[in-house]
Amino acid sequence: MAAIFQKAATMLNPTRLTDLAHRYGTPLWVYEAATIRQRIADLQRFDTVRFAQKACSNTHILRLMREAGVKVDAVSRGEILRALAAGFDPASTPDAIVFTADLLDRATLDTVVEHRVPVNAGSIDMLEQLGAVSPGHPVWLRINPGFGHGHSNKTNTGGEHSKHGIWHSELRAALDAVRKHGLQLVGLHMHIGSGVDYGHLSQVCGAMVQLVRETRAAGHDLHAISAGGGLSIPYKDGEASIDTEHYFGLWDAARREAEAVLGHPLQLEIEPGRYLVAEAGCLISEVRATKQAGSNHFVLVDAGFNELMRPAMYGSYHGISLIAHDGAERPAGHSVVAGPLCESGDVFTQGDGGVVLPRALPRAEVGDLLILHNTGAYGASMSSNYNSRPLIAEVLVDGDTDRLIRRRQTVEELLALEAL
Ligand code: LLP
Repeated sequence: MAAIFQKAATMLNPTRLTDLAHRYGTPLWVYEAATIRQRIADLQRFDTVRFAQKACSNTHILRLMREAGVKVDAVSRGEILRALAAGFDPASTPDAIVFTADLLDRATLDTVVEHRVPVNAGSIDMLEQLGAVSPGHPVWLRINPGFGHGHSNKTNTGGEHSKHGIWHSELRAALDAVRKHGLQLVGLHMHIGSGVDYGHLSQVCGAMVQLVRETRAAGHDLHAISAGGGLSIPYKDGEASIDTEHYFGLWDAARREAEAVLGHPLQLEIEPGRYLVAEAGCLISEVRATKQAGSNHFVLVDAGFNELMRPAMYGSYHGISLIAHDGAERPAGHSVVAGPLCESGDVFTQGDGGVVLPRALPRAEVGDLLILHNTGAYGASMSSNYNSRPLIAEVLVDGDTDRLIRRRQTVEELLALEAL
């Protein structure tokens, strides 16, 4: 079988991917358990690895995480219910789930109180509303240190342009709300964006230590600090993988400084989404049409931005490889890879601002498979039903076995929501 891989981000070989495509149909999300387990192992020096499930919230993936000793973060009532369905049990493990947000809608407030899910509060209003109905509830304070960083402005979650977290100079007021309601302060949390770099990291760690000092000075104690998520992965050839030892070392040093301030040990948490799952996933699509438009050669596949939104939303790069349906070699060329949606932005090879970027890719033929790599994070979880396209299936590969972990949605199911 001829296959030209631009980036061998997945250990799955072309024969295996072709077999999955034939058996489950396309487009198809595929995840590989071994890669997820390896990424979890990379972070084992942290006391707690808490999976930011927004990256990939399939309950089967959550169960795999739980069985590997990972805890979970939830950012909506739906994500709390997913975590419960996957067996995370706050009754036996009080910190199994943490709810992180900047507001509490009424239904979610009821759910966190019912299951006593610790709340990582990004606003003082959350503390007031929670404290009023659930005194003694465990809380974290998510602090915006006044600066942030992200792979795109849309993923920068710190600084004055970000809606996230309690502004650093409001820490005292937040602590007063904690005390007023007898809330149980667990820890301080900072997540300043996705795609953190080392240069920035010492600034982040320094800010955390300073916040611990201020918390202590206000007469409060802490059991834990959280480094948040944001660990990047190599999306492009040549990009380096993050050095998790170095990353841990910087945070461990901050933890030790904070311990000296408090006079007792502190738990160190990390809360990655992307790092644990991005490289474990790919999206299999089938080429259904090709066309020339002036100087651009278009390859049209059966997956669109309703499935993988990242290129259209952030100009994100995903490696693409081709599996020829007839096993023949394909001539070299440059192509714009696009989907079936009724929008010009439905293009997988684009840069920031939506400019199409023809990609060096063997000339695809109808029936070939195009594999979009590193889609395990923010792939399926950001999908939509745009253009009335049902959600597609997800498959988990574990060694020699594979199984469906989400069946394909049907149009009838979409229509049923409106059959009133
Ligand atoms: N913790 C908090 C509080 C977060 O807001 C996030 C991500 C994470 C952890 C996990 O970040 P990660 O380790 O995955 O970078 N849809 C975007 C990413 C948005 C991230 C939002 N918050 C993307 O596709 O790149």
